[in-house]
Amino acid sequence: MKKYWKYFRKGKKLSEDKHFLSAQLGSSNELQKKGDRTEVLNLLLGLFDRPASYLEIGVRNLEDNFLKIESSIKLSVDPGLESDVNLADFKCTSDEFFDQFSKGELKEVPEKFDLIFIDGLHTAEQADKDIHNALKLISDDGFIVVHDCNPPSPYHAREEFSFQNSPAGVYWNGTTWKAFVKWRKNKDLYSCCVDTDWGVGVFSKRIPLGKPLALVNEFYEFKEFEKQKKDYLNLVSLEEFKKLIQR
Ligand SMILES: C[S@@+](CC[C@H](N)C(=O)[O-])C[C@H]1O[C@@H](n2cnc3c(N)ncnc32)[C@H](O)[C@@H]1O
Repeated sequence: MKKYWKYFRKGKKLSEDKHFLSAQLGSSNELQKKGDRTEVLNLLLGLFDRPASYLEIGVRNLEDNFLKIESSIKLSVDPGLESDVNLADFKCTSDEFFDQFSKGELKEVPEKFDLIFIDGLHTAEQADKDIHNALKLISDDGFIVVHDCNPPSPYHAREEFSFQNSPAGVYWNGTTWKAFVKWRKNKDLYSCCVDTDWGVGVFSKRIPLGKPLALVNEFYEFKEFEKQKKDYLNLVSLEEFKKLIQR
């Protein structure tokens, strides 16, 4: 017993801890990548030869992304948990929005959306529900985009945002990656993840972005995911993505 206690007390300085350093490096690498979610979203909207409709789940500060979206028909949903003033069109959770939508209780909403951006609560369970519900509202040639699918370390992929005493600090991708990986197995969907801005996952029913995932990671272990991340996510560079959607 004494022996083990000695081992635990030994500890290491953070500057010597390879896990701490590699997670910090993960953040700085991610912040330096070319492009961002807005560029990916606008590229997709540019593919439509009709005025395309856009829905953003989780919008926070409009100027960060929503106002830069090039679409004349755009709507947003947010319960306002992270901003002083909630400027979302629908001030509620995504579950409440989808529920009201399905009951026909919402006025002045399109019948279908051409692009739905999921960036609300970053837990696997919520992202999974959001993808499931978004699929019911998306047009046949539309896209579902999911933010934060490529956490650079298990600390970025922690379950709790509020635990910030980790090498990832305030950066939080949560467990969204699990929902993205789960839906990548769906045989009716093509998907890829653009390697920018913490991973921008894209689903399409029409455009062959990538085949359904065949790999199995039954317990959604981060270590397993990390070993073959490129395959789990079908990770593509922004340049590769541009070629994929231009076919
Ligand atoms: C990461 S921010 C969104 C950032 C924004 N999409 C952008 O690109 O700049 C996450 C937002 O999701 C909202 N949110 C949290 N839980 C939610 C839920 N259940 N449904 C919808 N939005 C939620 C938060 O209030 C927060 O404003």
